[in-house]
Amino acid sequence: MTPRILPVLAAAGLSAVGIRANEAPAMSPAIVQSAFGRMPDGTPISRFTLTNAHGLVCRVITYGAIIAELEVPDRAGKLGDVVLGFDTLDPYLRLNPYFGAVIGRVTNRIAKGRFTLDGKTCTLAANHGPNHLHGGVKGFDKVVWNATPVATADGPAVQFNYKSRDGEEGYPGNLDVTMTYLLSNQNRLQIDYVASTDKDTPVNLTNHSYFNLAGEGDILGHELMLRAHRYTPADAACIPTGQIARVAGGPLDFTHSKPIGRDLGRLTNHPRGYDHNYVLDGGKGLALAARVREPVTGRTMEVFTDQPGLQFYTGNFLDGSIVGKRGTVYRQYAGLCLETQHFPDSVNRPEFPPIILHPGAVYRTTTLYQFTAGR
Ligand code: BGC
Repeated sequence: MTPRILPVLAAAGLSAVGIRANEAPAMSPAIVQSAFGRMPDGTPISRFTLTNAHGLVCRVITYGAIIAELEVPDRAGKLGDVVLGFDTLDPYLRLNPYFGAVIGRVTNRIAKGRFTLDGKTCTLAANHGPNHLHGGVKGFDKVVWNATPVATADGPAVQFNYKSRDGEEGYPGNLDVTMTYLLSNQNRLQIDYVASTDKDTPVNLTNHSYFNLAGEGDILGHELMLRAHRYTPADAACIPTGQIARVAGGPLDFTHSKPIGRDLGRLTNHPRGYDHNYVLDGGKGLALAARVREPVTGRTMEVFTDQPGLQFYTGNFLDGSIVGKRGTVYRQYAGLCLETQHFPDSVNRPEFPPIILHPGAVYRTTTLYQFTAGR
């Protein structure tokens, strides 16, 4: 896994990261496993705490392969938790709006929960109005994954595996998914997804972390750049019309960095906020997709991916009814999601890049989040 990524990064024009020796004391990378409660049927849930050589910490749990905590330094070297989540398992089971979770078998929407594949119509759960969202009633965010800690030369990692059976949530084929979180010593959180099937099936995996680089408050002052000149226009339920349009100059235009709140008032959707799929400008291999900077702490996150799209979501549906870590009330815009993916409803849109995985082929994709802090 590690040797594979390094040449790709070089190709993407990523230089070695500027981690100054005085930013954090060098320490031995570590992986610590602990108990994180039990499922209602008694299945134990584990938590893995990954610490890299610069003291960054990532905590992941076997329920939903959820990233529950991610501590990265600000410009003074002070660690802060930059993802939304819960302190205990129970709220993850009862009220999680996909905080930190892997989404599958197909992320985002499938119109009317239906598609035709190899002449057969597959019917899926309509779990978001009349449409299918994020893999169904019990998607990959709500299952228990097998986990194996892996110490790599590049930093601590955990490999998760889930075998989704033929017919689960209406999808055809047994799908074997392996996903690795690597907290590299270059201060990158890298996610590698690999999957194979025994029947034709759609696959579109992402991670649904809600980031807040200040660790509190809302994200409207975060400055965002999206390397995307185009997006997929959609109806009020976020189902694409099939067109691809330019963002040019409108509120969706983040080609030059701007505060997320600046043009929010020009959006007309309800609840108001960004919830749009961007067509990434891309590049060869892993390409820069997004850069977010939080001006007060100086924390900056860059997202690199090989995926063609990215759903930018500003937590519009959060309404203050969820109390998360350390008693934080999550109000509207408490976090932002940058969900790298294929386009929504691709399975019904032959004009979009295809998402069907065939037996014998391997689904393989990588997204990584690079953390730095500066002025
Ligand atoms: C969707 C939103 C949805 C949210 C759920 C996002 O990926 O685009 O519409 O409400 O996930 O947390």
